[in-house]
Amino acid sequence: MILTYQLSNGIEIPKLGLGTWMIDNEEAAQAVVEAVKIGYRHIDTAQAYGNENGVSEGIKACGVNREDLFITTKLAAEVKSYEEAVSSINQSLKALNLDYIDLMIIHSPQPWMEFGEEDRFFEGNREAWRALEEAYQAGKLRAIGVSNFQKEDLDNILSNCTVKPMVNQILAHISNTPFDLITYTQAQDILVEAYSPIAHGELFKNRKVKAIAEKYDVSIPQLSIRYTLQLGLLPLPKTVNPEHMRDNAGVDFTISDEDMEFLKNVEHIEDYGEASHMPVFGGKLK
Ligand SMILES: NC(=O)c1ccc[n+]([C@@H]2O[C@H](COP(=O)([O-])OP(=O)(O)OC[C@H]3O[C@@H](n4cnc5c(N)ncnc54)[C@H](OP(=O)(O)O)[C@@H]3O)[C@@H](O)[C@H]2O)c1
Repeated sequence: MILTYQLSNGIEIPKLGLGTWMIDNEEAAQAVVEAVKIGYRHIDTAQAYGNENGVSEGIKACGVNREDLFITTKLAAEVKSYEEAVSSINQSLKALNLDYIDLMIIHSPQPWMEFGEEDRFFEGNREAWRALEEAYQAGKLRAIGVSNFQKEDLDNILSNCTVKPMVNQILAHISNTPFDLITYTQAQDILVEAYSPIAHGELFKNRKVKAIAEKYDVSIPQLSIRYTLQLGLLPLPKTVNPEHMRDNAGVDFTISDEDMEFLKNVEHIEDYGEASHMPVFGGKLK
């Protein structure tokens, strides 16, 4: 939790972050306080999670100096104009009650209702990016990035920007690791963050993964998180349970090259259970 990656602009980012998707605003403050007590210094929230206020309460109550925390939030996927993006960035600063945000990323290249459709919203993403660049230059954001961006979405920004994205946060876990996108992104000196590193809980059902976890005498989340770290990714496991927070931070072991190869080839998960309707897991919002 205290180890860091360095972003392309020299900013240090803790290698393990606490995900907060599906943590209610009312529960978020307590989750942040518990996580910081255990040693977490990196919290991942989003406008769309509706819990920036709760996270803010947790930051205030946790007893650790603001400058020792790393707070990420995400510009809502539907924001695809410069004016809306400027106003949204300011709204997040207000909701989080912060003078600056450590990292702000475009949540998705496409609004959620259009996720997976043909239109990549190139112009809208360039507009949103311009607003992020300006807030970065003004010192309101210490780093800026993107999420769910495919190669073509990254190229759209890279060929038009004055500040390069520092992060691409994508779905990456055992049984669903987009190796080509990871290689391409890392080659641009962009850190890849792994969201849903435990497959939103679905990896608990996988017998092959369970067998490897038993071999190392670790839990399935520990194995899953360690796998992403060994690929040079930054995992963002979500939990509200302090015991699970502690478990997820216990990843000081090494998966052998042979077992990494095995894990890289575990069959693709198609079914994310109750969360399958979510666009990020291949579903469609109605
Ligand atoms: N950028 C994007 O579009 C995007 C999309 C999805 C997610 N994310 C980010 O990534 C984070 C994580 O993804 P996720 O929430 O989908 O799923 P995840 O972290 O892969 O899995 C979370 C599930 O695993 C359980 N869990 C976690 N640690 C555990 C442990 N040690 N033992 C037993 N159960 C454990 C949690 O339940 P408990 O709470 O009960 O422990 C929860 O049900 C999100 O919170 C969010 O910050 C970003």
